[in-house]
Amino acid sequence: MNKARMALSKLLGFSNPNDVAFTNNATMALNLAIKGLVKPGDHVITTMLEHNSVRRPLEYLKRTSNIEVDYVPVEPSGEMDFQALKGLFRSNTRVVIATHSSNLLGCILSIRELAELAHEHGAVMLVDGAQTVGHYPIHAEDMKLDLLAFPGHKGLLGPQGTGGLYIHPEINLEPQMHGGTGSQSEQPEQPDIRPERYEAGTPNVPGIAGLAAGVEEIYKIGVEPIYNHEWTLTQQIIEGLQELKGIRILGPKLGVARTGIVSFVLENQDPAQTAFELDRQYGIAVRAGYHCTPLGHESACTLNTGAVRVSVGHTTEEQEIDALLRAVYQLSQR
Ligand SMILES: Cc1ncc(COP(=O)(O)O)c(C=O)c1O
Repeated sequence: MNKARMALSKLLGFSNPNDVAFTNNATMALNLAIKGLVKPGDHVITTMLEHNSVRRPLEYLKRTSNIEVDYVPVEPSGEMDFQALKGLFRSNTRVVIATHSSNLLGCILSIRELAELAHEHGAVMLVDGAQTVGHYPIHAEDMKLDLLAFPGHKGLLGPQGTGGLYIHPEINLEPQMHGGTGSQSEQPEQPDIRPERYEAGTPNVPGIAGLAAGVEEIYKIGVEPIYNHEWTLTQQIIEGLQELKGIRILGPKLGVARTGIVSFVLENQDPAQTAFELDRQYGIAVRAGYHCTPLGHESACTLNTGAVRVSVGHTTEEQEIDALLRAVYQLSQR
């Protein structure tokens, strides 16, 4: 466990390895952050790009704890209206929550700028790093993040069932799980020492050991080369798809920073059918549907159709992109 904490603190730029709490996934980390922080009567600012793992806890608290939530609009290109966001702050704004990168559009949000704005207004900054941790350089302290939720099984190459939450030393969350920690056992209350405060019960030690190995591997390869490789491949995908007739490509234009995701819709074709045929005829795995982000699809004007999402990783090769482009070309000809 300590090895994993130390590897994460080195990779994600925070000083005290005990400031990370392990969870089963990013969803659990986001729930801990949101429910441990937001109190009845609070106001929350978030974006239209959020995954349901942010939206649903917020909607639940809206229903049960009398909180208010503003979702900042986003252009189909993924650009966010910072002026509109600035106008939303109130005296009771407790937290700004933003995904670092959209799991539909691949756009990257200016998290550092958002964190500065949040702090100017006395609010906390919570970042959903599900799409960037291990894929895009992050330094939690330099970026002034208060809370950073992440899965272990995506960019960090860990096993499923692992994830975590970085918690700035000055942020005190209400624990969402109470129970044994193997420390201060005579006390009826959850200890206030870290990481035990947020890690009651027997931990997933085999999973965390796997996560430690994944994080060390990413550190060895380097996040910057991973990002550059993935960006190059996404540019190749966009260039190729742009040649096709009857296609709509979502998210930032060619040349703009993005993570390894490109989503598209073929005119008059159900994305689920496109995905099915890519799999069955060409052996290419993509994801169709709403990608757990209905508000993201509303922003992209694809709420009626959903979209096909292609993802690349650091082991994806150029030949695989060529095969994808050939397959989508053939499907677009029908
Ligand atoms: C942006 C974003 N946030 C949160 C999640 C939830 O992650 P997990 O499945 O680890 O709970 C995902 C998963 O796809 C995601 O893409």
